[in-house]
Amino acid sequence: MKTYIQNIAQHEGQVVTLEGWVSNKRTGKGLVFIVFRDGTGFLQCVVSESEVTPEEFQVSDKLSQESSLALTGKVVKDDRQEGGYELQVSNVTLYAISEEYPITPKEHGVDFLMDNRHLWLRSRRQWAIMRIRNAIIMAIHEFFQSRGFIQMDAPIFTGNACEGTSTLFETDFYGDPAYLSQSGQLYGESMAFAHNLIYTFGPTFRAEKSKTRRHLSEFWMIEPEMAFYDLDMDMDLIEAFLRFVLEKVLEKCPKELAMIERDIEKLQKATQPFTRITYEEAIQILKGKKTVNGKNAIEVLENDLKEIQATIVANKKEIEERDVAVAKLGMKKGEINFNVTKIGKLKAENKTLEEKAENIPTWIKSAENFVDGNDLGGSDETVITRLFDTPIMVYNWPHKVKAFYMKRDEKDARWAKGVDVLAPEGYGEIVGGGERETNLELLVEKIKEHELPMEAFEWYLDLRRYGSVKHAGFGLGLERLVAYTCGLPHVRETVPFPRMYGRLLP
Ligand code: 4AD
Ligand code: MG
Repeated sequence: MKTYIQNIAQHEGQVVTLEGWVSNKRTGKGLVFIVFRDGTGFLQCVVSESEVTPEEFQVSDKLSQESSLALTGKVVKDDRQEGGYELQVSNVTLYAISEEYPITPKEHGVDFLMDNRHLWLRSRRQWAIMRIRNAIIMAIHEFFQSRGFIQMDAPIFTGNACEGTSTLFETDFYGDPAYLSQSGQLYGESMAFAHNLIYTFGPTFRAEKSKTRRHLSEFWMIEPEMAFYDLDMDMDLIEAFLRFVLEKVLEKCPKELAMIERDIEKLQKATQPFTRITYEEAIQILKGKKTVNGKNAIEVLENDLKEIQATIVANKKEIEERDVAVAKLGMKKGEINFNVTKIGKLKAENKTLEEKAENIPTWIKSAENFVDGNDLGGSDETVITRLFDTPIMVYNWPHKVKAFYMKRDEKDARWAKGVDVLAPEGYGEIVGGGERETNLELLVEKIKEHELPMEAFEWYLDLRRYGSVKHAGFGLGLERLVAYTCGLPHVRETVPFPRMYGRLLP
């Protein structure tokens, strides 16, 4: 059986062969220290001049970043090392040298890294994020499969819009126009009447001609649909689902979360029961007219701004002091490196903080000027969720801002029985869902109101004609959940090869 770094603990004291790449290398007297990666993990491997042939030592000494090779050696416990083990190398077999690998340990700009996404994926942070994404995917399947849901694949080519006509990608389907699916929901509704509990898990497409940190042109959506469910049952399921997934990631990925320096405490708090508020209450909070646990959203933001400004000043002072210290002669190389790294981190932190400090007054202004009945913007979501540690559910929306299929509240026609889940820490909407309209006349009216072509929806209307029942569902954007779970500033790092406005390669 082949040995992988992820199972290295099982091989303590044994001699094993590993195949992989050089992640990093440094040399000492008669020693070469290789941080080796085989894709399943990272392991320090030590090549000692006295333990290998002169040729092998020479090869080891010349290894460059991302060269591929096989290393044979003894697995030794060493608590100081990453993963708790080290390989004492006895054989070195070079496969291929990697010449002038473009991504070095120094800082690179994000555009450069995105252009080199095919290589960037090998870097530690990206590696950890992809593994967290995988854990989230598996947790999602586990949640639904263990509750008797059937996974269904909805079509990608579609003949109708689902989420508004402004974000459709049009393609040519044998001479007729077809659209890349914005959502599998309408197909999911059909399947729910065949299997009761279903979920889709597949790519969906939205032409979003703007660069934001939340929008991709191609993203993966999970859309469960449940027959005989109302909005309350839907919200119960969403909450159980999200808490389950977050708990699973905390349980399965402590190492990866540590690698990306995610604030675990914040994530743990997020698995507590979620608050549910109506759209009307959300607007009151947004405008500072309703407090949460005695806190006023606007005041809290004003305080945040003061704290941020103070931190920026303190950071600047520290940067200056360290600059002066480094410039003085006589500092050891290690100490200089430490200071230079620290200065880099402080500068990066200040850049983020300065951006935030610039944004907060705009957010406050836009919150105060919010027009009742409008949809919530990204910054409004940030303001509202600032007062909460867990994701919150906002339900009962003005029907005008929601999709045509949303069920109108029978008691108050102003509202549609929709729900949005807003994640804390500034992430905002990660889930949208609700109960579906079952009244055929209202549905037809809505399709007309949204200026959608009736012929393309006749099949959908059949679901209301033949044994219609109440039903509900929701859609989770996988990349938005990964971004929130990992605490990433942008969704572009949550998917192996992001597709977004201005980015089709690699
Ligand atoms: O709120 P949305 O548009 O809802 C639907 O598509 C419904 N058909 C879902 C349902 O009830 N079955 O999208 C659902 C989620 C959003 O909350 C967001 O997480 C994600 O999909 N999403 C995007 N993620 C990345 N990039 C985009 N451009 C996204 N648009 C929506
Ligand atoms: Mg939405």
